[in-house]
Amino acid sequence: MTQDELKAQVAQAAADYVEKEVPEGAVLGVGTGSTANLFIDAVARFKDRFAGAVSSSEASTRRLQQHGFKVLDLNEVDEIPVYVDGADEIDASGAMIKGGGGALTREKIVASVARTFVCIADASKLVGVMGQFPLPVEVIPMARAAVARQLAALGGQPRLRMTKEGGIYKTDNGNVILDVSGLAIGDPKGMEQAINQLPGVVTVGLFALRGADVLLLGTADGVRRTDF
Ligand code: A5P
Repeated sequence: MTQDELKAQVAQAAADYVEKEVPEGAVLGVGTGSTANLFIDAVARFKDRFAGAVSSSEASTRRLQQHGFKVLDLNEVDEIPVYVDGADEIDASGAMIKGGGGALTREKIVASVARTFVCIADASKLVGVMGQFPLPVEVIPMARAAVARQLAALGGQPRLRMTKEGGIYKTDNGNVILDVSGLAIGDPKGMEQAINQLPGVVTVGLFALRGADVLLLGTADGVRRTDF
């Protein structure tokens, strides 16, 4: 099976999960990325059972709206029973690296409101120790050099994210991203706290303090579910 087929398989499994577990009239939390896109497509057939969706990026908002979903402002929403999103890496405790698609800050905000975080990923994303995938850190533009020095002091090699066209990549929030390679993340919670408190850091793409509650992992033998 190709990686895309595995992603499609977990996206469908997540749509089935949501159909069963999310009460009628509730708000759905929706992540960002290629796996989340497939989830949006799969869940669209029963969109009318939701009061609406809270989205974690402008890209997901556009896709949800194309399918006729009502996209709600998080400020209008008290409860999100389930948030579904992908990951760049996930470990055996449910801690994740996210932000390969640049949406880490809004993802972390929406996830923090959700009761259950359902991570959807193909088998390549499950790792023993995280850090092979460069860790994204969203930074206020004026602090990028200062934060880069601090990240280097922690043992990483930060690199400013660029666009395909060669410009500086900007997040939906108007900030920049440092992708940090060379970190072996043995203590994800400790590292999340350490990087989050650097002045100028908006969000680190480590989701360990609030990790996944459920993992739907696409494997060649079908979807494997883990509850953390
Ligand atoms: C978006 O900012 C990310 O956090 C994505 O959830 C993550 O990069 C996974 O993306 P794919 O599903 O495209 O691999």
